[in-house]
Amino acid sequence: MGGKLLKLGVLISGRGSNLQSIIDHIEAGKIPAKIEVVISDKKDAYGLERAKKHRIEALFIDPKAYPSREEFEKAVGDELEKRGVELICLAGFMRILSPYFVNRFKNRIINIHPALLPSFPGLHGQKQAVDHAVKIAGCTVHFVDEGVDSGPIIIQAAVPVFDDDDEDTLATRILKCEHKIYPMAIKLIAEGRVSIKGRKVTIKGTKKKEWEVFNPPLEL
Ligand code: GAR
Repeated sequence: MGGKLLKLGVLISGRGSNLQSIIDHIEAGKIPAKIEVVISDKKDAYGLERAKKHRIEALFIDPKAYPSREEFEKAVGDELEKRGVELICLAGFMRILSPYFVNRFKNRIINIHPALLPSFPGLHGQKQAVDHAVKIAGCTVHFVDEGVDSGPIIIQAAVPVFDDDDEDTLATRILKCEHKIYPMAIKLIAEGRVSIKGRKVTIKGTKKKEWEVFNPPLEL
């Protein structure tokens, strides 16, 4: 591929299927980026195994080993900085980051959320969508600000909600889209095509073909 690779740090807490999708897209040469380190706040997170399988450094940092949230976040931030990480990708990292961490890496942290924000922030976005009985659900990649899932939106993808859906069937449908839009967002940032003004994110030179990837036609 040649050229400069954007250095990524991926933070996880569990399964790591979004991490896997990012790894696969990078290995296929589709994203000019390199994962420098994967960090988990849970020792048994399967995502750590996924990283190791691909010879990516995998660290468990135990929140309980630190006297406060900020101290834990400082340790995480130091590990990321030590490796020259330029973009931090939260991929199922189930912690709210403090203003300290968000400001230390201002506009350099992104997150994937399983809902069409600003609807259904916080935990269990898919269950919230089923309980509210919306007809369209989806997922969002956004920059992280000091609020909960409230930062500037980069990409969203929509999926239908069917009458017989439960949390699990909807989550599965949404997850397929997550695995497309998260690598896409990272690619756009790595290519230097993403800018933020206030809460508006602009993507330079988006081709129709790319939009179709993260706004798949509804299959009815
Ligand atoms: C994903 O569905 C992600 O959107 C969600 O956790 C799951 C992690 O799955 N994140 C949140 O709910 C954050 N509020 P993964 O570990 O297989 O990528």
